[in-house]
Amino acid sequence: MATACKSLVLVAAAAIACSLFGSFTLGQQQPKGPVSDLCLGCICEAVSNCNQTLACDNTVCGLFRITWAYWADAGKPVLIQDNKDTEGAYGRCTKDPYCAALTVQGYMAKFKQDCNNDGVVTCFDYAAIHRLGGYGCTGPLDYNYQNRFLECQRQVQQAAGVPL
Ligand SMILES: *[C@@H]1O[C@H](CO)[C@@H](O)[C@H](O)[C@H]1NC(C)=O
Repeated sequence: MATACKSLVLVAAAAIACSLFGSFTLGQQQPKGPVSDLCLGCICEAVSNCNQTLACDNTVCGLFRITWAYWADAGKPVLIQDNKDTEGAYGRCTKDPYCAALTVQGYMAKFKQDCNNDGVVTCFDYAAIHRLGGYGCTGPLDYNYQNRFLECQRQVQQAAGVPL
């Protein structure tokens, strides 16, 4: 990942993914899930332009726009020294880019599937699961989300030289 990050800093979503979600961010190794950092970068790009200052409104929090139910399905990850059963643990985690990324990983570990039935589970499937949920990911994606995702994926693939 570190090498890929060096060659990808010109792609905005990849640079953000490398700086935010890389396991070196907190100087410690966390259990990683099935989604690559670059894929996480394109999902947050599609959902919020990876806006790290987004707080909670109504039903969603943070740069991945995560609901309470999604966080709960993900296994309720928390910030270091926080407690999943304390008031506000959901918001504190999902507003933090790294903890939010762990939440996505937990959710995908649970719901990983081939949504578009092309025989492989790719970043596109994770993007569909993120948007439509683990039980509805075969449905159509809204135009803006899909377009932003595909454009990000195209740029990252071009720069990385590998499928995302
Ligand atoms: C990020 O979100 C904040 C809060 O909604 C907003 O004020 C700001 O303009 C956004 N930044 C970008 C770059 O979109």
